[in-house]
Amino acid sequence: MYSNFKYLVLVMTMLFSFPALAGDAKYDPGTDSPAIGEQDKYASVRDTLQTCFSCHGDKGASTIGTFPILAGQEFYYMYVQLKDMKKGLRASAVMSPIVADMEKADLKLLAQYFSEQSWPKTDYTIDSKRAKAARLVADAGQCAACHLGTLKGNSRVPRISNQHPEYLKNTMHDFKNNIRKNAPAIATLFKTFNEKEIQDIADYLASFNAE
Ligand code: HEC
Ligand code: HEC
Repeated sequence: MYSNFKYLVLVMTMLFSFPALAGDAKYDPGTDSPAIGEQDKYASVRDTLQTCFSCHGDKGASTIGTFPILAGQEFYYMYVQLKDMKKGLRASAVMSPIVADMEKADLKLLAQYFSEQSWPKTDYTIDSKRAKAARLVADAGQCAACHLGTLKGNSRVPRISNQHPEYLKNTMHDFKNNIRKNAPAIATLFKTFNEKEIQDIADYLASFNAE
């Protein structure tokens, strides 16, 4: 059993360590992007995008469980991840070499491109008993305080609803095992989850009704 108090203290600490989450203005992806009126603002990354599509699916609408959906994910969140993967703060055997030699301006354009696509429809389900168990963990861990009621995120906070469960499970393990070191407070949260809780939460988020 987990204690609600343990989660509450943790979440309070996390809220303080992310002051920008408390109702800050939405990050504006338009800032220092190419001038309006240019024919194709993504011209410099068109070829690179094809590489991204080869794993993340056409326009980022991944259909493979281990490759996260990028289409419609938050711009600023993705930009931070790409920079952190480049720096190795979020170590990724697959992604870090891909972004190693890319300029910040292109990382920003890639993140912007994917954030402008629509999130694809997925059809994951979870049985009601496991959903109930997961909801208790989600409520205690106050996921909605940061990821919002739809769990679609905002700005620096990612969308977690309807993401592939395999990816969600992998990344929660990466937080837990200090492979994803770019958000220590979030990692601390996942260290309190046991294996069954991680499984249940991943399937719950994947099947979440975000409408
Ligand atoms: C060879 C397959 C492959 C290619 C090509 C690839 N990715 Fe990835 N990508 C992955 C995998 C696997 C992950 C999960 C990695 C992890 O968590 O360590 C990932 C994670 C990401 C994430 C983090 C998503 C999240 O929800 O945190 C972003 C952003 C991303 N990729 C963007 C890109 C972009 C932009 C490109 C093209 C330049 C690209 N990827 C090319 C496989 C790939
Ligand atoms: C204090 C705010 C906060 C709370 C509470 C919170 N999160 Fe997050 N979460 C974040 C932020 C910020 C990130 C992005 C971290 C980063 O940049 O790597 C994140 C990242 C994630 C990711 C990685 C998503 C991806 O695409 O890789 C998952 C999964 C996740 N959170 C699940 C949860 C769950 C489940 C709960 C509740 C049990 C929760 N979070 C509670 C702020 C929060």
